[in-house]
Parts: sequence; structure tokens; C-alpha cells
Amino acid sequence: MKFRRIAVIMGGGSSEREISMLSGRAVASALREAGAEVSEVVADESNAFTLPSGVEAAFPMIHGAFGEDGGLQARLDALGVPYPGNRAEESRVAFDKILSRARFAEAGVPCAEGFVLAPGEAPPALPPMPPPVVVKPPRQGSSVGVTIVREASQWIPAVAEARRFDPDVLVERFIPGREWTVPIIGPADAPTALPIVEVRPKVEWYDWEAKYSDGAGTDYVFPEDTADAAELALCERARFVALLAFRATGGRDMGRIDLRVDPDGGVFALENNTVPGCTSHSILPKAAARAGIPFPELCARIMEGAE
Ligand SMILES: Nc1ncnc2c1ncn2[C@@H]1O[C@H](COP(=O)(O)OP(=O)(O)O)[C@@H](O)[C@H]1O
Ligand SMILES: [Mg+2]
Repeated sequence: MKFRRIAVIMGGGSSEREISMLSGRAVASALREAGAEVSEVVADESNAFTLPSGVEAAFPMIHGAFGEDGGLQARLDALGVPYPGNRAEESRVAFDKILSRARFAEAGVPCAEGFVLAPGEAPPALPPMPPPVVVKPPRQGSSVGVTIVREASQWIPAVAEARRFDPDVLVERFIPGREWTVPIIGPADAPTALPIVEVRPKVEWYDWEAKYSDGAGTDYVFPEDTADAAELALCERARFVALLAFRATGGRDMGRIDLRVDPDGGVFALENNTVPGCTSHSILPKAAARAGIPFPELCARIMEGAE
């Protein structure tokens, strides 16, 4: 490995702190198995942390605010400590769904028609496009603050819910159909898509419960495991869109692009998760395993991108 003494940084003050702790510990033991000397560094609720002396590089494993919005990356830049993953400014872009959508538009990445309600702007009496629409805070993760508005009466409460987390509110056309996510690894100039994972929540949609109730609330399927030509063509398109979306949002070393796939074969990018979950039941390790990459090797490969 390029670096031997590695700090895995986890915890922090975001709503995803507990998941980050699980991801961080899993990555730490994987890197140890790969031969590194690892310290587990837990950032406190105000995102403060201290690196032990002698650390050569860091592996950011804080999900959500600070870990994915560029705050942590800027700290590491200031400390002169190499790390894999998006750089600070490109983390900020990928974390912000409004900025990401602007990049998607420039790069020709298909995404749902959207509408932004500025801070303090009173919402119109009716949703800006016919329901169903998705109302979300643009800088959050794990479906926190997200509402699927199926009838007009849910609109105003949905805006209020999203505003609990962010003064800006993003409204998107609801894309019916399937939920796919594409983990991506590798350098910025030659990223590789790992097997696509279809997420099938057993509940109505992929909310916090479905994501984290130990996998029990969700089935994960590999749509590429099929002989159906139409399905394989759809997978090809999804990989293409995912790689475009990854590049458009400054992706490097690791990421997971969330997609929606509609019944007509339309593929739409939702976001790039730049610090994907790495717990024992997370999607990135599952997809890597499907591609024949054991978790320690996956973590070591990601670390190769540290600079
Ligand atoms: N435009 C959309 N159409 C259909 N479903 C959506 C749309 N936007 C979000 N969702 C649903 O909400 C979930 C969370 O949205 P996402 O944009 O990925 O934000 P985050 O995962 O950061 O909370 C998605 O996994 C998807 O199930
Ligand atoms: Mg998502």
C-alpha cells in the first residue's frame, strides 16, 4: 500500500453519526487485514478530532454534513494529510443537490425536472408541478426530510418538513419505477462502475427505516444477473449515466450514484454519495464482493487514490 499508517475518520455531528461509526469500524478492520496500521479517529458531535502523530494518510468515513460536504476534506488539506475521494470543493458540489443538478445539466446527465424554493420564499399554494413530486432538503442524506407528495394537501407540510433541515427546498418530479444505485471506484480519469444494485424496499419507499433496519427492510438485487437483452441494455445505459454523473460531480476513488429507472427505460441521476456506507450490510461492499473484490482489497484500492 502507498500509505501504511492510516487514520479512519468516523463519527461527527451529522444525523448519520451512528452509521458512520459502523462504516468506520468496518473500514478500519478491513485496512488492518490489508496490512495497514490503522487508528480509529472519532470526530465529536461538533466535528472536532485530533489525528495521532505519525499518521500518513486519512480515510474519510463520515457520512452527511462535514464528512461529505467538503468540511472534513478542507481540514485534511489544511493539515497536509492525503485522503481518497472527492476534493473539498467537489465534495461541496456533490453534497448539494442544487449544485449537482447544475453540473448534471451542463454535462448532459439526465435528471428529474426540478424547481427550487429559495430561503424565505413562501411556497405557492399548490406544488409547482403536478403530483407526485418529491420535496427534499438539498443538503442532507439518508432520505432525511424527504417527502413524496402524492396529493396537493401534502405539499405545504412537506415544504415545512424539508425546511427543518435546510432553508432551500428542492422539488423534483417523482420518477416512477425502479431504484438503482451504482457504486463506482477508481481514479477520476478512469472510474469503474461496480455491479449495479437494485434496491427494493419492502415498505412504500426507501426511507431511513428501510435503509438501516439491518437489511431486513430491503431486498438487494443485481439486475445485471440476467440473460434478458432488454434488461442488459438498460443496465448498460444506467452504467453510462452513473459514470457521467460521477465525473460531473468531481467523483474520484469512491462514490455511489443513486438513479431512478422509469418503466419506459428512462434513467435519471439523483445524486453522487461521495462517502458511501461501508457497514456489513452496505451496498458498496456487496457490489464489490459481487465483482470478486473482497472488502479489504476494496478499501486498499480506494486508499491508493489518496493524495
Ligand atoms: N425525483 C425522484 N423520483 C422518485 N423518487 C425519488 C426522487 N428523488 C428522491 N427519491 C426517493 O427518495 C430517496 C432519497 O432521495 P435522494 O435524492 O437519493 O437523497 P438522499 O439519499 O441524500 O436523502 C431516493 O432513494 C428515492 O427513493
Ligand atoms: Mg440517495
